[in-house]
Amino acid sequence: MARIIGSRALSVLAALLYLPSPSSGVLNQTTASTACSYLESVLGTGVVLPNDAPYSSASQGNWVQTAWASPTCVIQATTAQQVSQAVRYLAHVGVHFAIRSGGHSPAPLGANINDGVLFDMSGFNSVEYDARLGVAVVSTGMRWGDVYRHLDQYNVTVVGGRILQVGVGGLTLGSGLSYLSDLYGLACDNVVNFEIVLADGSIVNANKHSHADLWWALKGGANNFGIVTRFTLTTYPTGLVWGGYRVYTLDALPALFDALLVYQSAVVKDPYANLMMQAFPLNGTLGVLLNMVYNKPVENPTAFTPFHDIPAIADTVHIQPMTDFLASQVPPSLPRLNWFATSFKTDATLFKTVEEIVTSSPELDTIRNLTAGSIAVGWQPISTSAIAAGDARGGNALGLAYTNQTWFVIDIGWWDAEDDTVANEAAANLVARVESAAKSSGHYVDYIFMNDAAVTQDVIGHYGIGNVARLRAVQRRYDPLKVFQKLVPGGFKLPSER
Ligand SMILES: Cc1cc2nc3c(=O)[nH]c(=O)nc-3n(C[C@H](O)[C@H](O)[C@H](O)COP(=O)(O)OP(=O)(O)OC[C@H]3O[C@@H](n4cnc5c(N)ncnc54)[C@H](O)[C@@H]3O)c2cc1C
Ligand SMILES: *[C@@H]1O[C@H](CO)[C@@H](O)[C@H](O)[C@H]1NC(C)=O
Ligand SMILES: *[C@@H]1O[C@H](CO)[C@@H](O)[C@H](O)[C@H]1NC(C)=O
Ligand SMILES: *[C@@H]1O[C@H](CO)[C@@H](O)[C@H](O)[C@H]1NC(C)=O
Ligand SMILES: *[C@@H]1O[C@H](CO)[C@@H](O)[C@H](O)[C@H]1NC(C)=O
Ligand SMILES: *[C@@H]1O[C@H](CO)[C@@H](O)[C@H](O)[C@H]1NC(C)=O
Repeated sequence: MARIIGSRALSVLAALLYLPSPSSGVLNQTTASTACSYLESVLGTGVVLPNDAPYSSASQGNWVQTAWASPTCVIQATTAQQVSQAVRYLAHVGVHFAIRSGGHSPAPLGANINDGVLFDMSGFNSVEYDARLGVAVVSTGMRWGDVYRHLDQYNVTVVGGRILQVGVGGLTLGSGLSYLSDLYGLACDNVVNFEIVLADGSIVNANKHSHADLWWALKGGANNFGIVTRFTLTTYPTGLVWGGYRVYTLDALPALFDALLVYQSAVVKDPYANLMMQAFPLNGTLGVLLNMVYNKPVENPTAFTPFHDIPAIADTVHIQPMTDFLASQVPPSLPRLNWFATSFKTDATLFKTVEEIVTSSPELDTIRNLTAGSIAVGWQPISTSAIAAGDARGGNALGLAYTNQTWFVIDIGWWDAEDDTVANEAAANLVARVESAAKSSGHYVDYIFMNDAAVTQDVIGHYGIGNVARLRAVQRRYDPLKVFQKLVPGGFKLPSER
């Protein structure tokens, strides 16, 4: 097929062809600003510098202020080839970089950078449905809401985020919990192909048949192996669901825990039923929020019977399209935010202890004292059917224990940058209390859900020794110079070798 190559593109090619191969070693003699000037000259448009008008929105494109930074420049690429050229060059000159898709990770410098180059992937914004193959090809910069709305016209959906604004790239590479997970596994389990730019600039498709080791590693591998440009996701039929949220006062918490225990202990848990429960121990008006959905248009299904008689102060649950249900989920809005995760098995006594910890620990006073200090305590029941579904789709790197479990999360929000340390310490202490209660009761699950974890938690280190060794082997094969380990400092990294 004939393609017209402009003179600018030819000079780009020429400039890159003269680069020695990165295998000659990472040089790191170039400053980030020199690198930005060079990239601007070779890539043409799409390199935003601090004096350019779009810089403030590009550098502050992350959801919360705690993740804002001042990159030396922002690369707004739209093709895998541009990303390839830039990565190859940055790897060669040893300049630090960061990758941002939807920007919804609150991790400071996880998807942004000071003194380095930020890849803003929001230009990768296409979604295409292939009815014949039963897949959707989704670019990394898409938000889940735009993906679902596009697929709704075909009455299909994909396993993705529960809040529509969240980005495809970070959620999927961090595993991805969906209201469909008990049926079909995590978001990463449903990736049949990753299109990824590797450290040497090559553009590779990783799937079951080709680069299967990399395909496996990317299911939980975060930003450790390359920049993913597109995901091919399995689609499933969708339509009307019975879903919404109920609000309870805080004193309903004991009854809700009893209900949660019954819900999670059902002999055969109905995988069409899904929920997330959040308590707000410091909010007098908002006590407990129960998001619940049954993935069929069936009212009051048996799975939710344990919750039926607990009086709610608000109830929006009704039959509606899945995407409308998701659109009714309200994300928190606070300038500074972080979250911490841990996991444990289903157990009445432990649930009681956790309830006491999150409603009466001294850290609550510390958080209450911060300007706009708030916490949300979340319970996410995970069934063995979700883990089995992941195994059936080729397996992932997460090292999940085959047991019914709760992925627990504490979100903390506050207002002032000067409170960062106190807020983070308070939340970390609360999670440490929960974790030690889980351990001493024998119900601890050695897993930290990346998408709810603080960047100070060693998420990948908890995938298990065997999985970490396998991930390192994949790294040796696809990124022998450890470009993504060393030059991409932000986010959840492979633990360093001792
Ligand atoms: C309101 C809200 C609701 C949420 N709901 C859910 C939920 O239902 N289920 C769930 O699992 N999680 C959920 N999360 C957590 C969310 O999945 C993570 O914060 C995730 O990192 C967001 O993805 P993103 O693309 O927006 O993130 P970003 O902040 O852009 O990226 C996060 C990390 O991924 C890396 N990364 C992003 N794109 C790429 C890429 N293309 N190649 C390589 N590395 C990349 C970045 O470098 C960064 O380290 C929610 C978060 C928020 C704020
Ligand atoms: C060069 O390498 C050093 C040491 O690893 C690092 O601290 C520095 O930030 C690097 N410089 C750039 C521009 O990436
Ligand atoms: C989607 O479902 C609706 C309602 O059942 C139906 O009217 C419509 O024809 C379906 N569309 C497609 C493309 O299957
Ligand atoms: C998990 O719970 C389900 C339903 O309650 C049950 O069928 C299954 O046996 C449990 N799995 C394990 C490993 O305990
Ligand atoms: C409690 O939650 C409600 C609803 O999200 C919110 O409007 C209000 O500001 C919160 N109050 C406090 C004290 O955090
Ligand atoms: C909260 O603030 C009050 C008033 O300033 C102070 O007396 C108290 O010690 C603080 N408590 C905590 C736990 O920080």
